[in-house]
Amino acid sequence: MTGIYGKLASLWRPRPPVLRPNRIGDAAECARLHRESFRHGWSVEDFQRFSIDKQTLGHVAHPHGQSSLHGAIFSRMAADEAEILTIMVAKAARNQGLGRQLLMRHLAELASLGTHHLFLEVEAGNKPALALYQRFYFRQVGERPGYYAGADGKKSSALLLRCDFH
Ligand SMILES: CC(C)(COP(=O)(O)OP(=O)(O)OC[C@H]1O[C@@H](n2cnc3c(N)ncnc32)[C@H](O)[C@@H]1OP(=O)(O)O)[C@@H](O)C(=O)NCCC(=O)NCCS
Repeated sequence: MTGIYGKLASLWRPRPPVLRPNRIGDAAECARLHRESFRHGWSVEDFQRFSIDKQTLGHVAHPHGQSSLHGAIFSRMAADEAEILTIMVAKAARNQGLGRQLLMRHLAELASLGTHHLFLEVEAGNKPALALYQRFYFRQVGERPGYYAGADGKKSSALLLRCDFH
């Protein structure tokens, strides 16, 4: 490409995704993402409940100018602890840093709301999720053998991870 079009093309940069707190109107999109990401999808009503529950914190991500969500994260807070209920990124948007951005934004807000200790459960074989949590210094503090059953009936462990903010 030459001339002004070439120059303009060389200036183009993809805009970073929008990361924002979730709203009740995101529930259908969150349920769609959850179905895409897990074997047992949560319902639209589940995500509506999260939106109105004051103890539940949620963030979503979408490309600029689009309403379809590319990622979401939810956690439940209790005193100075919180538990990540779910984190999910659309298949087409994975392994491009969105999970990391969502978790970073979410952790910053949890910390500002008084969370000191964060917990979550992850399937032992979930390599992308484990790589993500390792980045944020989560460490294993427990294991529930045979907790998850795969589509083939095979059982796998749930690992309990913990991250301390100070
Ligand atoms: C787990 C999940 C949220 C990660 O989101 P993502 O946007 O793909 O993650 P990122 O691109 O930010 O990558 C985070 C880390 O995981 C690594 N990673 C991503 N995909 C990977 C893969 N397929 N295999 C191994 N590592 C992978 C990245 O290299 C990165 O590690 P680094 O920081 O050391 O480079 C996403 O894979 C997902 O939605 N999975 C299905 C739902 C799920 O399992 N949620 C977690 C339940 S506990």
